[in-house]
Amino acid sequence: MNGQQTTINWYPGHMAKTRRLLKEQLRRIDLVIEICDARMPLSSRNPELDDIIYGKRHLLFMNKSDLADPAMNSEWIRYFREKGISAWPTDASKMRGKETIGLIDRATKEIVDKALEKGVRKTVRAMIVGIPNVGKSTLINRLYGRSITKIGDRPGVTKSNQWVRVSPYLELLDTPGLLWPKLDDQVSARRLCYIGSVSDEVVDLGDLTIHLLEDLCGIVPEKVKERFRVEDPSLKGVELLDAVCAGRGWLLKGAQPDYDRCCSVVLDEFRAGKLGRITFEKPPETTNTEKKDND
Ligand code: G4P
Repeated sequence: MNGQQTTINWYPGHMAKTRRLLKEQLRRIDLVIEICDARMPLSSRNPELDDIIYGKRHLLFMNKSDLADPAMNSEWIRYFREKGISAWPTDASKMRGKETIGLIDRATKEIVDKALEKGVRKTVRAMIVGIPNVGKSTLINRLYGRSITKIGDRPGVTKSNQWVRVSPYLELLDTPGLLWPKLDDQVSARRLCYIGSVSDEVVDLGDLTIHLLEDLCGIVPEKVKERFRVEDPSLKGVELLDAVCAGRGWLLKGAQPDYDRCCSVVLDEFRAGKLGRITFEKPPETTNTEKKDND
């Protein structure tokens, strides 16, 4: 741990295979439901997905919106909709199946109506895709009404490859499409570690915690002061970690900071939403406008 930039060198295998399998599945489905994390909609979207699913009907669920800043949720929704993407803030852990089915019905109304004109009542087939830990299995289980799926953390597309009927004319692929996360820039990679989409095992937890604390001090300094009893949120690096250890009393014999405990609790408390609703990324337009303002 040194509080400096550490490189996250973790690449899930089988990207090309996953891409191919996804493309194969696409032939059989009418709608892609993409899930990203509302706290970081840029980093948690797979950059290649738009190309892979080009031409398919597409819903984007900004999930865990209950953990993200409500005003930023609205800004992101506006941003995506201006780009022609049907985006919705969701909380898959509480979402009622009926709500989701309503959105799916709206997104596929045109193809269903077209089939009806020919006298056919079409069954819509949908697939859920997203990077690890964004809430894919939770959403499938909510839709289905009971637990049917929990996939491992290896990218791939569908293990058992079965269709489950979630309403009379709607079928869902029973296991979601697991996409590889965006690791082409280190800031994104690190943010994905904050939310557990990239495993803690591939990073130095001390450095990760320092970065998280520094980022939180930039976004919600008052909450950091209150939660971790840090007087000066402008501290950086190991000094910030030391202040958190002292503030929360995480000390070993001889008043040495207990970094292991600090890292584990800080990450757990952040992930459990104990620092409040936080969004790390702004829609690009907002960032540009702000840049101009600051110039
Ligand atoms: P995945 O299939 O995309 O990998 O994600 P999964 O559904 O397993 O969800 C990952 C974790 O996120 C789970 O918590 C799940 O409960 C939680 N989660 C999913 N959607 C939401 C949401 O909209 N809001 C919040 N706050 N949490 C959500 P876990 O602690 O890993 O497991 P569990 O003990 O809750 O099952």
